[in-house]
Amino acid sequence: MAFSVVRAALVALTWTAYATALVSPAGHTVVVNGITYYAAPEPVSIISATADQLKSAATTGVDLIPLTVMEDKSSSFTTAVFRSLAGNYTASDDVFNIGFLQAVYLKHSGTAPATVKYPLGAALTEYGTKLFMSARAYQSSVQAQGYSITGWRTELPAGPYFMSTSTGEVYQAYRLYSDVQGAFTEGLKPNTDGTFSVLSASVSGVQSVTIGVPSKLYYTKTAAKPLAGVRVGIKDIYDIAGVKTSCGNRAYFDLYPARSKTATAVQNLIDAGAVIVGKMKTSQFANGESATSDWVDYHCPFNPRGDGYQDPSSSSSGPGAGIAAYEWLDLTLGSDTGGSIRGPSGVNGCYGNRPSTGLVSLDNTMPLSPDMDTAGFLVRDPLLWHTAAKAMYKENINSNFTTFPSKILTSGFPTSATTEASTILLDFLSKLTTFLNATTSALDVNALWASTRPAEAAGNSISQFMGTVYPILISQQQYRLFTLPFYSDYAAAHDGRRPFINPVPLTRWAYGQSFPATAEQQALANKTVFTEWWNSNVVLESEESCSESILLYPGAAGNPNYRNTYRTAPGAPTGFSIGRVSNFAGVPDIVYPLGQASYRSTITLKTEFLPVTVDIVAAKGCDGMLFELAAALNKAGILKTPKTGSETF
Ligand SMILES: *[C@@H]1O[C@H](CO)[C@@H](O)[C@H](O)[C@H]1NC(C)=O
Ligand SMILES: *[C@@H]1O[C@H](CO)[C@@H](O)[C@H](O)[C@H]1NC(C)=O
Ligand SMILES: *[C@@H]1O[C@H](CO)[C@@H](O)[C@H](O)[C@H]1NC(C)=O
Ligand SMILES: *[C@@H]1O[C@H](CO)[C@@H](O)[C@H](O)[C@H]1NC(C)=O
Repeated sequence: MAFSVVRAALVALTWTAYATALVSPAGHTVVVNGITYYAAPEPVSIISATADQLKSAATTGVDLIPLTVMEDKSSSFTTAVFRSLAGNYTASDDVFNIGFLQAVYLKHSGTAPATVKYPLGAALTEYGTKLFMSARAYQSSVQAQGYSITGWRTELPAGPYFMSTSTGEVYQAYRLYSDVQGAFTEGLKPNTDGTFSVLSASVSGVQSVTIGVPSKLYYTKTAAKPLAGVRVGIKDIYDIAGVKTSCGNRAYFDLYPARSKTATAVQNLIDAGAVIVGKMKTSQFANGESATSDWVDYHCPFNPRGDGYQDPSSSSSGPGAGIAAYEWLDLTLGSDTGGSIRGPSGVNGCYGNRPSTGLVSLDNTMPLSPDMDTAGFLVRDPLLWHTAAKAMYKENINSNFTTFPSKILTSGFPTSATTEASTILLDFLSKLTTFLNATTSALDVNALWASTRPAEAAGNSISQFMGTVYPILISQQQYRLFTLPFYSDYAAAHDGRRPFINPVPLTRWAYGQSFPATAEQQALANKTVFTEWWNSNVVLESEESCSESILLYPGAAGNPNYRNTYRTAPGAPTGFSIGRVSNFAGVPDIVYPLGQASYRSTITLKTEFLPVTVDIVAAKGCDGMLFELAAALNKAGILKTPKTGSETF
């Protein structure tokens, strides 16, 4: 393995003074080998070295130097081990680069005593290491290369850090990335007290929000911290203590102060070790908006698939666009009331789950319709998906089944492979049928309803009985629970004024207010009737397989939906489709990405590719079975891990 000698280039900005109560440190932006980093302001340790020792590694005029903590388990630390570790850190961590070897602290975690084998000098010269420090175990043999020190005040995990050459204080290193897809509202970093701050750093030369990610080397996954080091973006309807919530509205963001509590859904992820890196864009108040026409207050995120000018869907569009675009982002938390996770998962080409209702508390989270609101993930890795679900839903997700369902229902599926998308869907159905040794039948939900509908439906079709339930619930519940207090608080602060609201939520609220307040109860009554009918006539519970059957319907079909389109004025989202079932019945509906289909882009004038996905519905509480099915299909090579960028696979 050959490394060229690269000298660390260092720029330290804005040395903050600590002297007065009004001034506090906000970290530093530092460039190492052309990559921009953030040195967090809180020292995580301090080196017990003399001023001379520290100064020996300093760059003129710069206090911070890059430092690597190397962790070695072998009994003798040789040049080969040094090279191997440097190579491994480079390969496994996007934050580390060999410029961090300017100073090295060697930490031995194997069986003592260990020795350092010569010659190390050549390697140290090759990597530009000016200061080599080691723990006591190595003391006897390293003086020639640097300094033996007595150790840390706090022992640190391996990885890249910054060290002050004036104080010996050590700070965590965050690599800074530019949110070029416009998926985030702001970058976050944790404070030491469990709250968060907006990241006060930026990458120069790009007109985007900056996101900072800490080194992956700091984290080790354990049973208690299964999400250790997993980088997560949070849809900006969930409160995070220390920072404000926008819900996609500028006036709302301005009006309210930073939150003092973190939403339980987010806190469960943090408790499992997740690293929250930023807040992500939502369409306004999580209503369904189209890019670009409906997004007045904020600009809609850019879906990276295909030509890069496709609608990212709504309302978890930031989480969808971000997870599809950024290798450095592992997981995003969205919400789904009427398709807000499933839609973005489909067109951005990733896994996504609308869970059974009620799996996690939605406290400190903006309501759309508490009877239908859910918290779920958008993610590329199907195994991480399951791990995250167990961390967030805790005991409410169980895998209480002994076999997978052996009955597949399809709705709206193609019957012949006439297009690329239908070929992909039918291929998956065929493989799944074989994998489950299942019987497959097409469900005609309208016909089944007509022959088995409950007496309460009084001869109505599903569309007549259920077509206004969704728009009435979201508009009347959000207006009552959220809009009225917001209007009132805003008016009190702005001399009786009303805040600006995007056209879609304004239209929907007006629709809800055009009905009497009793409409909400009637809608809930219809919803209950439908749910009982669905659970006893369509997808039933099962003792063996949790859900007697699984219902498949096509998700994204690879059809372009350009964002540079003038659309018709918004209206209420009335009507019934199979995608509404989970909203009403509270059952899980999850998205598996399957493949991609080509189209001729009117933007690039080239052939581009868009994702093809399937939705799968199971009985309520069978989320665990669907996650395990995804893992099993992944293991069998039937489901793959989507890539980031223009092409999904
Ligand atoms: C580097 O990684 C390889 C592959 O995982 C491993 O075999 C090797 O032991 C690692 N090197 C060191 C010094 O730990
Ligand atoms: C598939 O199911 C049928 C009955 O439904 C059964 O006879 C057969 O043994 C099963 N095959 C496998 C491989 O499980
Ligand atoms: C509920 O069902 C009744 C018919 O029983 C229908 O008149 C009404 O429009 C339905 N929807 C709502 C939201 O009440
Ligand atoms: C799991 O299923 C068994 C058998 O159906 C049932 O007795 C048990 O209560 C279930 N446990 C959970 C946690 O759902």
